[in-house]
Parts: sequence; C-alpha cells; structure tokens
Amino acid sequence: MQETYLLAIESSCDDTSASVLYNNKVLSNEVANQEVHKQYGGVVPELASRAHLQNIVPVVAQALKKAGVQKEQLSAIAFTRGPGLMGSLLVGTSFAKSMAMGLGIPLIEVNHMQAHILAHFIDEGQAKPQFPFLALTISGGHTQIVKVKSFFEMEVLGETLDDAVGEAFDKTAKILGLPYPGGPLIDRYAQKGNPKAFSFSQPNIQGLNFSFSGLKTGILYFIQKQTQEDPAFVEKHLADICASVQETIISILIKKVKKAVQQTGIKQVAIGGGVSANSGIRKALKAMGEQYSWETFVPKFDYCTDNAAMVGIVGYYKFLEGQFSAQAVTAQPRLSISKE
Ligand code: KG4
Ligand code: ZN
Repeated sequence: MQETYLLAIESSCDDTSASVLYNNKVLSNEVANQEVHKQYGGVVPELASRAHLQNIVPVVAQALKKAGVQKEQLSAIAFTRGPGLMGSLLVGTSFAKSMAMGLGIPLIEVNHMQAHILAHFIDEGQAKPQFPFLALTISGGHTQIVKVKSFFEMEVLGETLDDAVGEAFDKTAKILGLPYPGGPLIDRYAQKGNPKAFSFSQPNIQGLNFSFSGLKTGILYFIQKQTQEDPAFVEKHLADICASVQETIISILIKKVKKAVQQTGIKQVAIGGGVSANSGIRKALKAMGEQYSWETFVPKFDYCTDNAAMVGIVGYYKFLEGQFSAQAVTAQPRLSISKE
C-alpha cells in the first residue's frame, strides 16, 4: 500500500487547527480556540482572521512535531476551502497554497460540511457507515439532513430555513446570561435539570426542513415574562430551563431524522458537527437506534467540533483519487455540500 503523510488545515470559523494523518489514521490533531470572542458573545469575523494569522504557524509546527513527521515527508496538503467566514478561510487557504508550492506537493481543497460527515471514516478501529447512509449535520452554521451516496456525492434532503441548531443553543445561552459558545454550557446544566419542567412550542415545518428562530423568540419571551415576576427566575431554575430547551431541540431533530429514515428506507444514521458533542442528542440517537433497529454513528468528541483531522480524512480519499486543486483555487464562503 502507498504510504501517505498528509497535513490538513482548518480555519473556517474561530478555531485554528492542523492535523497530520498517516493514510486514514490521525497522528496529531491540534486545535487553538480563540478566547477573544467570549467578551463579544459571538464570533467577530475580523478578530477571527487576525487570530488565525497569529495561530497558524505555531499550530502547524506543533501538529508536525506531535506526529513526529518532517515537512519534507508530506505527500500533500489539504485545507478547508469553505463554507465559512471569508477572512478566516483566506488564512488557511493562503497558508496551504504557499506551503504546498514551497514543498512542490499537491494541494487538496476540502468542503467543511463534507468533512464533518466523513470524520466517521477516520480509522480508530470502529465500525464505519456503509453507503448510502443518512447524516444529520448540526453545527453553529448549519443544520442539514444529508443522503451520503459515496465519499463525494451528497444530497441535501432538508435544512434549516433560518437559524442553525448551534445558534439556537448559543442564542438561548446568551438570553440566560451564559458566555459564548453557550452550547456546551447548556449541555452541562441540562444534565442536572428536569427536561419536562417547562415546555416550548415546536415549529411546524413541512418535509425535512427545520426552523429554530421561533423557538429562540419563544424562549426570549418566556424568560422576559418570568423575570418580570421573579428577577431571580433564571438563577433559581437554570438547570431546568437548560434541560427543557435541550429536550425541545433534540425532539425537533429526532422527529425529522425519523421522517428521513421512513422516506428513504435508509437505516444507517450518522451525526456530525459541533452540536453532535451534545450528550442529549448522542443518547437520543442511540436510543432511537435501539428502538427502531437503525445503525447509528456518533463521532468521537475530538472530531465533533471544528478540527483539521476531519479535513485530513477527506484529503486522504481525494488524494487516492488524484483530486488535486490548482494554485488558482480561492476560498469559497458559500460552498455547497452537494456541488463538488
Ligand atoms: O462545528 P462547530 O465547531 O463549528 C461550526 O462549523 O459552526 O460547531 C460549533 C457549535 C456551537 O454553536 C456550539 O455551541 C455547539 O457547536 N456545541 C454544542 C456542544 N458543543 C458544541 N451544542 C450543544 N451541546 C454541546 N455539547
Ligand atoms: Zn463546523
């Protein structure tokens, strides 16, 4: 078998990450989170690209060092071309282009959303999905149900018409006075709360599409009303509020997945993206799998939120097929998952 050492770079949003893979195995996966956004309650694009510029050289150096690989050993460089923030994508794209040119090795562009899905193929001895399978991609920027026909052929069956599910978590957290990103904090408080304590109305959206903006507004009005009556309401009931919001979000997601399985007859379901780190959704998907005899695939925590290892695995499969990019390739903030 051909020996492939691949360097992968991810810089689509607010995490700068570099990973080295040996074939389909991860040797290192370094992620530098950007603390700078916490004080603003969300990602500030200009600050994100500046932080990527500061982080990228040390993060790449650290990934190579941890992997014990010299840059001269690299077979190719993969990078996230999109979707994402333009200024952030430009840093990873320019860096990958220059490094590949300097080393005289192939350059491989990767679609960030495909990477979230194909993270399941990083080999750690686990069972992997068989094509075709369904993927629920849930992140800060996306909420999609995708039919994955092969490594590079994907069809979006449904998606959010407004906010992404990660935004629903983060905006709820903001309403509750929790820092950004609030998703992991809601998850943590929810584990100590009663998911039936409060109920929030669910959207009535046709087909396999989603909507989360109504839920966010519903939560805002609920909290405003309750705090008028008792200013300490959030403080007193934080765990119950988080558990109830999380339960509502999971119920919205799971209902659509069930519908997608019924419509397609495909009984293999994988989740991916930052929100797939949520303990409630992980448990709910596994439970559905047991109840309805689906095969379910939940990624390792390290491969849920943005990371370069998932970019590397896509790069590896593209490398095997000789799918290389020209030096003229540019970052593409609105890259679609289905048009590759
Ligand atoms: O995939 P990701 O790292 O970045 C994007 O491509 O958007 O996803 C980030 C999102 C954020 O909205 C964050 O709050 C959410 O994933 N998230 C979670 C959890 N961990 C991360 N949401 C709920 N529960 C979690 N445990
Ligand atoms: Zn992502």
